[in-house]
Amino acid sequence: KKWTRLLLGSSRHYSDGRSSRLSLEKTFGRYDKDSQCQRMLKHLHHGARITVQMPPNIEGHWVSTSCEVRPGPEFLTRSYRFYPNNTFQAHQFYYEDNHCTKPTYTLVIRGRLRLRQASWIIRGGTEAEYHLHRVQMVCHTATVAKEFSQRLSRSCPGAVTGPWDPSVIYELWSEEGGYDCSKELNFTMHELQLLRVEKQYLHHNLDHLVEELFLGDIHTEPSQRLYYKPSSYQIALQNAKNHDQGCMACRIIYRSDEFHPPILPPQADLTVGLYGQWVSQRCEVRPEVLFLTRHFIFHDNNHTWEGHYYHYSDPVCKHPTFTIYARGRYSRGLHSTRVMGGTDFVFKVNHMRVTPMDLATTSLLNVFNSNECGVQGSWQLGVEQDVTVTNGCVALGIRLPHTEYELFRMEQDAHDHHLLYNGQRPSDGSSPDRPEKRATSYQTPLVQCSSSSQLSDYSQGHDGDSALLPHSDATGWHRDSQKRITVAFVAFVTSLLLFWQS
Ligand SMILES: *[C@@H]1O[C@H](CO)[C@@H](O)[C@H](O)[C@H]1NC(C)=O
Ligand SMILES: *[C@@H]1O[C@H](CO)[C@@H](O)[C@H](O)[C@H]1NC(C)=O
Ligand SMILES: *[C@@H]1O[C@H](CO)[C@@H](O)[C@H](O)[C@H]1NC(C)=O
Repeated sequence: KKWTRLLLGSSRHYSDGRSSRLSLEKTFGRYDKDSQCQRMLKHLHHGARITVQMPPNIEGHWVSTSCEVRPGPEFLTRSYRFYPNNTFQAHQFYYEDNHCTKPTYTLVIRGRLRLRQASWIIRGGTEAEYHLHRVQMVCHTATVAKEFSQRLSRSCPGAVTGPWDPSVIYELWSEEGGYDCSKELNFTMHELQLLRVEKQYLHHNLDHLVEELFLGDIHTEPSQRLYYKPSSYQIALQNAKNHDQGCMACRIIYRSDEFHPPILPPQADLTVGLYGQWVSQRCEVRPEVLFLTRHFIFHDNNHTWEGHYYHYSDPVCKHPTFTIYARGRYSRGLHSTRVMGGTDFVFKVNHMRVTPMDLATTSLLNVFNSNECGVQGSWQLGVEQDVTVTNGCVALGIRLPHTEYELFRMEQDAHDHHLLYNGQRPSDGSSPDRPEKRATSYQTPLVQCSSSSQLSDYSQGHDGDSALLPHSDATGWHRDSQKRITVAFVAFVTSLLLFWQS
């Protein structure tokens, strides 16, 4: 595993800049009468206006922008302060409901954080080490206080001497304490081991700076949390000084403390309506080394869907490696019994096409191709190939047809855009191919770009005009060592295995 990670970490240079750009033009340039959806994607592919700070300056006060859902599920909001002397104070406010209107308890975590080096695992991320000084807890209702004091008096006797009261602060762990009650909650701050800070000016307005802090992801299996080193990110916190002005939750959370937990405005659950088109709002990161943007089209008239997955080798989605087009059917289930506010779905994939977008991927598909992944040896840069007839790409671990058990929810953001959340992928890299593996938390949301599913001249496939492509660039590739092939191959396989993350 370690070895793989190192290889993946060093795969950053395998894409060829020049051919990438040409291929990119080819993919997106053809939509001259651009729809809103293509315009939004193009914008992301050109690096948007995002700047990434390396190393990140995390000093300041950072807050959640909405009610967050962690695997379990757990509903929470976060308010983290990082001080100039490298210490931090983090508030995690927990709730019983999915709109964060009914606080149950708050954790106050103090400690020290030291930034280390640029991440080997996630390009664009920074690794850090933390050390806890103290973890405290305040319960917000008598029922919750009673429940916790009973639970903790069993699991860490000595710490809990009597029944707890609400609105009183209790110690779960401290450097001097000699006991650790935080284990009972599977509590850990490993999210501080991976950081990234992004700045962007909203609406091209230099007065409107938004700063975002991405912290490491949380393992989807609660029992694994304590041992998991983050390999992607949670939804970002925003800097309280430079947040999106439309973010009401930011202001409420900013003003809160452990005795006055944030109570977000009540909202009705939106009915999940899978129709129209939806795109990524940012260059998304998947565990290990994979960056991508997504574009989904749902036809609610006949319950079919189409998905375009654009994969990149870099964290701002500039250098494409390959794209996948998939389609199939979906069916709507009931309201989730496990995740308040979620709706169950089942997705099937029965058709897939792959387009290699850089020379490395093209060569790899040809090198590792068998009769079980498209037509053997026929892959060309920028030319799409149908792999449905070969039942996917067995050599790469993709078999068709494929079924996934999904969880969805919808939300309206501060600017009245519809957001669509689908389930977080299992952190162990597997796919939710059984109902019991269905997610209990969500990925970064997609935004609706069109309420109509009509447009896609996409699905007609590419015209395959390979004469435009710079085949002569292949000389660079042939000089490459076996090592680079291996590196890229491992990255490619991983990418495809993780493709179902979407
Ligand atoms: C670090 O700074 C914070 C805020 O100014 C302060 O509360 C804390 O006591 C300081 N910690 C140390 C170890 O100096
Ligand atoms: C903590 O993890 C254990 C398994 O290690 C699990 O049984 C328990 O339910 C978890 N507790 C919480 C609060 O998630
Ligand atoms: C489903 O409907 C869409 C749009 O109306 C259409 O383009 C597509 O071909 C249909 N698919 C099937 C399998 O009928």
